[in-house]
Amino acid sequence: MSHSPRPRFTFLGHSTVRCDLPTGEVALFEPWVGGNPMCPEELKSFERIDAMLITHAHSDHMGDAVELAKRYRPSKIVASFEICEWLAAQGIENVAPMNIGGAQMILGMRVSMVRAEHSSGLVEGGKFFDGGVPTGFVVKISGGYTFYHAGDTGLFSDMQLIGELYRPELAFLPIGDLFTMDPHQAARACRFLGVRQVVPIHWGTFPDLTGKPETLRKELRDLGVTCEVLELQPGESY
Ligand code: NI
Ligand code: MN
Repeated sequence: MSHSPRPRFTFLGHSTVRCDLPTGEVALFEPWVGGNPMCPEELKSFERIDAMLITHAHSDHMGDAVELAKRYRPSKIVASFEICEWLAAQGIENVAPMNIGGAQMILGMRVSMVRAEHSSGLVEGGKFFDGGVPTGFVVKISGGYTFYHAGDTGLFSDMQLIGELYRPELAFLPIGDLFTMDPHQAARACRFLGVRQVVPIHWGTFPDLTGKPETLRKELRDLGVTCEVLELQPGESY
């Protein structure tokens, strides 16, 4: 494992992750705190948000994007081209659209957009809005530390390419089942990615999201994959 500086990650429940960079800047992945039943009350407000990253258009991932963007005025909001167009139409400035395969510098981090196997539509006021393809992010911070936030996804074998191309040390992976991978599949994702640490996300928020970190631990053992499961409770930091 590298000894380059890494962010402090605070799990806000479901898929939302606050990332405090060594510079003091704050990047928020998946802006959903207000209606997020797992987010501790005291962590629903921020001193600052310098960037927001959104993997897809479902409300449990971007439900508070507009409100937080208006309140904290992040310098960049990273998402698919289509989500950025939608945000801009809501009066949000500083959108930073991108698409799969591309990368851009945000707060000194190299942010790459990668594939996810999911959907990204939104129904609002009876109208259907197409958020483009669902995505994940690989982020390399200044100094080299690299991590992956998978968003919502099923398992896909191209995760091997993500491992080969970007060499992430840590991954935030959904394990809840029903809408995403379960722990059985997530263990294979860890093997494909070659990560040394995994933070399970998208589990336990609702009764239907049944995957558990201890099951992921067992599945990794059964596969013979050495990967530490960092089980963060909502509000906990690593
Ligand atoms: Ni989703
Ligand atoms: Mn979701």
